[in-house]
Amino acid sequence: MRARIAVLGGDGIGPEVAREGAAALRAVAARFGHEFELTEALVGGAAIDATGAPLPPETLALCRASAAILFGAIGGPRWGPAAPVRPEQGLLALRKELGLFANLRPVTVDPRLAHASPLKAELLVGVDLVVVRELTGGIYFGEKRRTETTAFDACTYSVEEVERVVRVAGRLARGRRRKITSVDKANVLETSRLWRAVAERVVRAEFPDCTLEHQLVDSCAMQLVRRPADFDVVVTENMFGDILTDEASVLAGSIGLLPSASLGAGTLGLYEPIHGSAPDIAGQGVADPYGTIMSVAMLLRHSLGLEAEARAVEAAVGAAIGAGVLTPDLGGTARTAEAGAAVAEAVRRSRV
Ligand code: IPM
Ligand code: MG
Repeated sequence: MRARIAVLGGDGIGPEVAREGAAALRAVAARFGHEFELTEALVGGAAIDATGAPLPPETLALCRASAAILFGAIGGPRWGPAAPVRPEQGLLALRKELGLFANLRPVTVDPRLAHASPLKAELLVGVDLVVVRELTGGIYFGEKRRTETTAFDACTYSVEEVERVVRVAGRLARGRRRKITSVDKANVLETSRLWRAVAERVVRAEFPDCTLEHQLVDSCAMQLVRRPADFDVVVTENMFGDILTDEASVLAGSIGLLPSASLGAGTLGLYEPIHGSAPDIAGQGVADPYGTIMSVAMLLRHSLGLEAEARAVEAAVGAAIGAGVLTPDLGGTARTAEAGAAVAEAVRRSRV
C-alpha cells in the first residue's frame, strides 16, 4: 500500500520519540512491502518560534492531505500559560479542524513491567482497559473570558456530540468484554446529566449486548487504582478523560508507555503518546519511545487497516521489553535510539 503520513514531532522529547515512531513505520514498510511517504511539519512551540503560529496553515494542509498523522508532543516552559500564543492551541486546533472527536487510550499492564508501577502487583493482574475520551467538545472548547477579577470557561455538550462518542465506545466494547463504564459528574453538572441520559439511551438501544455502568468521576478516579482490572471500556468527556488517563498510566508503570488514537468520522487519525513534552529530559536521548511506537501500531490498524502490521509492531515492542531494552522511566539504562532500534529490528525480523 502507498500512504502519506504526516510526522509532527513538536517540542521537548516530541521529536525524539517521533523519530523512533517513524523508524518503526519504515521498518514496517520494508518488512511488508508498503510505501509510506513520511513528511515532517512544524507544530506547537517549534512552529510558534518559526512562524508565529502554533498550527501553521501548511501543517494543517499537509495533515488534511495525509492518511494519518504521527504526533510527538508539544509545550514547554518557553511558552508558558501566560504567553499570548501557546503550543497547546496548535494541538487543540488540529483535533478540532480535523474533527477528531474520539480519543482512544488503551491501558494494559505487561507483567514484566509491573515492578515499574507504584501500585501493588496483585492489583495489576489482568488490567486491560481503554478510555474513550471525547476530544473536541466540553470545557476545552467552550467560550473563554477573562477580566481583571474573574475568569470564565464554558462547558457545553450537544446530544449529537455525546451520541457519536458513545457509539465509538459501544463498537469497541463489542470487540472486547462488552462492558461500558460511562463517567460523569451528574450530581453537579448539567452537561453530565445530559451525558448520562444520552449514554443510557444509546447503549440500551444500539448496544443491548453490552452492559453499561455509570460512575461519578471522583469515584472512578479511586476505582481506577483500587480495582483497575474491572474496567473494560470507559467513555467520558474531554477534561475527565484527560485527567483519568494520566492517572491510569500509573497502572502501566510509566506514562511513556501509553499510546493514543484520535479518530473522527473517516479513517484519518492522529496518533500520539499520551505523555507531554517532558522538558526536564528533552535533548538527553533518554525518553521512552514505546508509547509513540504503540501509537504507530494504532495508526496502522485504524487509519490504514493493516492489522497484521499493527500486531507485528506490538509484538516487536513486547520483544524489546522482553529483551530488557528499557529506558530509565522503566528502571533501565537504554537510550531512546536503542529502544527504537530494537523495535525496528524486531519488526524487520517478524514472521507474522
Ligand atoms: C493530552 C494533553 C493535552 C490535553 C494538552 C497538551 C493540551 O494533556 O493530550 O492529554 O489536555 O488534551
Ligand atoms: Mg493530558
